[in-house]
Amino acid sequence: MNDPVLQEIKDRLNIADIIGGYIQLKKAGVNFKAPCPFHNEKSPSLIISPQKQIWHCFGCGEGGDVFGFVRKYENLEFRDALKILADKAGVKLPTYKPVDQYQQDEKELLLRINAFAARYYHQVLLSKGGAEALEYLKTRGLSEATIKNWEIGFAADDFHALEKALATKKVNINELVKAGVSAKNERGQMYDRFRGRVTFPIYNYFGETVGFSARILRDDGKSAKYVNSPETAIYNKSKILFGLNFAKDAIRKKDEAVIVEGQMDCIAAHQAGFANTVASSGTALTEQQLQQLGRLTKNLKFCFDSDAAGQTASRRAGELALKNGFRLKLIILKNVKDPDELIKKSPGLWEKAISEAIWFLDYYIDLAENNFKQGSVEQKLYLSKEVVPFLGFVSDPLEQDHYVHNIATRFLISEKVIRDQIKGGLRVQGIGDSISQAQKVAPGLLLQKEVLGGLLFLPDFLAAILGKIQAQDFEDPEVGKAVSQLIAGGEQAASARQTTLAKEVLFMVESQLDELGGETDRLRRILEKSFALLKVNSLKRQQQALQSDIKAAETAGNKLRVDELNLTFANLLKERAVFENHL
Ligand code: CTP
Ligand code: MN
Repeated sequence: MNDPVLQEIKDRLNIADIIGGYIQLKKAGVNFKAPCPFHNEKSPSLIISPQKQIWHCFGCGEGGDVFGFVRKYENLEFRDALKILADKAGVKLPTYKPVDQYQQDEKELLLRINAFAARYYHQVLLSKGGAEALEYLKTRGLSEATIKNWEIGFAADDFHALEKALATKKVNINELVKAGVSAKNERGQMYDRFRGRVTFPIYNYFGETVGFSARILRDDGKSAKYVNSPETAIYNKSKILFGLNFAKDAIRKKDEAVIVEGQMDCIAAHQAGFANTVASSGTALTEQQLQQLGRLTKNLKFCFDSDAAGQTASRRAGELALKNGFRLKLIILKNVKDPDELIKKSPGLWEKAISEAIWFLDYYIDLAENNFKQGSVEQKLYLSKEVVPFLGFVSDPLEQDHYVHNIATRFLISEKVIRDQIKGGLRVQGIGDSISQAQKVAPGLLLQKEVLGGLLFLPDFLAAILGKIQAQDFEDPEVGKAVSQLIAGGEQAASARQTTLAKEVLFMVESQLDELGGETDRLRRILEKSFALLKVNSLKRQQQALQSDIKAAETAGNKLRVDELNLTFANLLKERAVFENHL
């Protein structure tokens, strides 16, 4: 990436300051060190070079420039990481097109359409046609300031009102469908998606409007209470948390996030001064949403509706939160349906409910005591079905031990039985991948980068292995591409040397050489071994692939092909033996 804008941002920022804003760094000579946030470790293997503006983890092989770090750490698309850093650097990105120009243009356009629609609906709400809706919002207790701040609006009961309003903007009609504000019927005719409803813009992390949730004015028992935007190129439902754009600073400051179900709950909470509130919008919380919260705080308080759906949502969210190491409490509502109702009664009651939140597991353990006869079979069945499986999700062993002991003494069950069940329960349960699993690094990435670094750093190493190396030996697509460019030589090789990846792997090998006291011969021997290991791994993979080809050919009765493949297999085996000798 040799873009001048990117370079300017990099030049203006200090990589150590940026990464230091996320994790704690320790000075190590001219560099900085830290435990790597991308894999589990206690001792620091992440090294940051302010001189080279590069980071690299010697534990898992991840690395890159400052954009790569922010993108990976915050789980963002490149464009969003770029926005954050441009902002920090004070660099303007007016018409910037980073990766795929068409895709970026399209996204910008969809964002513009949604922003326009939000403004339009808001104006309608404040006009004559919006009087009834405005009255409705006021009876629900929303102030003018809140309505303005969240840009709440009203979509008239008209199939083409927004379409007409947007017509003056000369946007391609199809884009309205892609933006989610319009829909098409079976005959291909377009119509406004939101009609006769109050509109709540849905914002992304940066406060850009990506869609809407629209509520009918009066529950009629027929129409859906809320109609929402569909998933679009800018609206990924499993990623967005309603209100997070307004809540993120407060969450960080308070070191706690309150998660409610409905957007009205969320807006009412903000209006009453509880700015660290977000809404899951009535769906189960996802890993991606938790991951975003996890960047801001590890302390969560859930308040789901007291109905059955709310309870189920709470349990599922609880499982995910525990698995991912959050400290989780539940806010219990009494005599009201949801936080909005309670806040309307009195914000003080809501404040009290928040402060009296109970630890997630204690809540379910208490239920065992309150809902069942002490010592009954039913009570034990409840514990074993509904409580013990959750203990398996508690990542801290001391905390887990606390609960095992607590349950054992309170309900007269042997600790061993509980522990055995936790082990068994984990096998049966295990819904979904936890964040830590999702973050598992590509196997062998470190090895691949090390060899690439050697090729770039030591010309004679490159010369020595050029004939034996293939791009397919490298599983990582980016590393593989760099290697094939080096093999091609000439201009391609020259451009392979200019990339961020090249800088990172050079930094990696130079650091290795430093540790070896500058002895290039020793470095070369290490690199040769690494290369042999890489080859062995690659040949094993090829053999595995061949084996299934051979089976297929056998089943098909293609004897000629079987012989041919067997010969190739034998050659791979011989080749592998040569490299195994070098290990
Ligand atoms: N929801 C939805 N579609 C529906 C019903 C609900 O998307 N047809 C989502 C909305 O995000 C809503 C949340 O689920 O905020 C919780 O639903 P519910 O408790 O029924 O509504 P409330 O939030 O209480 O809404 P209100 O206070 O406006 O009645
Ligand atoms: Mn409600």
